[in-house]
Amino acid sequence: MAKAADYIAENKDRFISELIKLLKIPSISADPAYKDEMFTTADKVAERLKEAGCDKVEVCETPGYPVVYGEKKINEELPTVLVYGHYDVQPPDPLDLWDSAPFEPVIKETDTHPDGAIFARGACDDKGQMYMHVKALEYMVKNDELPCNVKFMIEGEEEVGSVNLNWFLERNQEKLKNDVILISDTGMISKEVPSITTGLRGLSYVEVEVTGPNRDLHSGLYGGAVANPINVLTKMIASLHDENNHITIPQFYDKVDDLSDDERKKMAEAPFSLDTYKKALNIDAVYGEKDFSTNERNSIRPTLDVNGIWGGYIGEGAKTVIPSKAFAKISMRLVPDQDWQEITQLFKDHFESIAPAGVTVKVKPHHGGQAYVTPIDDIGYQAASKAYEKTFGKTPVPQRSGGSIPIVSLFEKMLDSKIILMGFGLDSDAIHSPNEHFGIWNFLKGIETIPHFYHEFTKLKTSEKS
Ligand code: BES
Ligand code: MN
Ligand code: MN
Repeated sequence: MAKAADYIAENKDRFISELIKLLKIPSISADPAYKDEMFTTADKVAERLKEAGCDKVEVCETPGYPVVYGEKKINEELPTVLVYGHYDVQPPDPLDLWDSAPFEPVIKETDTHPDGAIFARGACDDKGQMYMHVKALEYMVKNDELPCNVKFMIEGEEEVGSVNLNWFLERNQEKLKNDVILISDTGMISKEVPSITTGLRGLSYVEVEVTGPNRDLHSGLYGGAVANPINVLTKMIASLHDENNHITIPQFYDKVDDLSDDERKKMAEAPFSLDTYKKALNIDAVYGEKDFSTNERNSIRPTLDVNGIWGGYIGEGAKTVIPSKAFAKISMRLVPDQDWQEITQLFKDHFESIAPAGVTVKVKPHHGGQAYVTPIDDIGYQAASKAYEKTFGKTPVPQRSGGSIPIVSLFEKMLDSKIILMGFGLDSDAIHSPNEHFGIWNFLKGIETIPHFYHEFTKLKTSEKS
């Protein structure tokens, strides 16, 4: 497929300007103020799929935001690849930390991206990566290179926990039937060291509320004599880790699938520089669970983190007050074989049990999902590996990621196929942060690599059958 590189070179300016158009629409699923933009984005994605060569495209209603479905069937006998992605993005806040407006994409060169990167919310997560698949399809259809059937399922609620995708899967199991699910919504080690994500962590996300006195109080008149919910909450949170940074919730680690020494040794072979890591974050030391490396801490080990904490007076100047309430949002990243609902319950039981007299504690579960691991002996993984070899000239490194795509394990269960995570982003692309960007080189490399996956997978699948 030498043609692919030529086709991409000829059309790259158009590919980029099409992506920029999509990035201009603020499809923020978390904020109801952007409801109209969400629907507009879904329509645009549908249009693009149609133009790229899908025969059938639908914007499917759900109780929440729509799922965009597209398909091109060439022969029932041939395998079917199902592409999943999401058109929703994270809120761009804090806005003042962006060097350019989040929904006015600009192309800038950086040290990591000398060919330029597109700066915009959603550039990498996930509009840019999702769009690689649309353009890969365009290439294959226009050049008579599509070797199998393809289906697209692009949702609009990934960043809020895919709350209605289960609903959609239950009603569309037949329509979504496939032989492999392909997702580009993760990253790779670097441009020189291609990698395939073989694991995602699970997630349990909860909000806690601590209530003390029935109203905010004068901190002089009452201070010291009643429980201050913020003091109490911070103490409770601090107690969730011990001196070795182990999580103290009883039974939290019971089901954790510990890796063998051999597996840990293999993991440690992946190129990684602690020095570069620290420099990139401007920190003088890393931090975490005793006896585990940084790469282990952020992939194969479960964690508990406060994502936000508030209460009391945070306006200008000083106000002397003991607040009536304090709140925090807490996430736990989970690993195989922890069950997210079980962990949520363990958290709730424990957190309520450690509340001192004088306050009441509420734990409100938000959303969650199971961890996922792709077996590297699966033909989907092998096809992906061959595809990277073709375009990067090297065998990609399998790497478990710390991030979560909670719906992935549900795909495996409900659609009965393996999920292949071909991510082309870099950790430094600042997803969810100000100045999110996606390298143009990465974008184009993705478009070039994806068609190889289709060919390799079709070859392996058809020879498996015969
Ligand atoms: N694309 C990310 C997940 C990701 C990024 C995995 C990079 C691996 C590498 C996804 O959009 C995401 O942000 N997931 C959330 C969970 C979701 C329920 C909001 C996450 O991991 O925090
Ligand atoms: Mn994503
Ligand atoms: Mn995300």
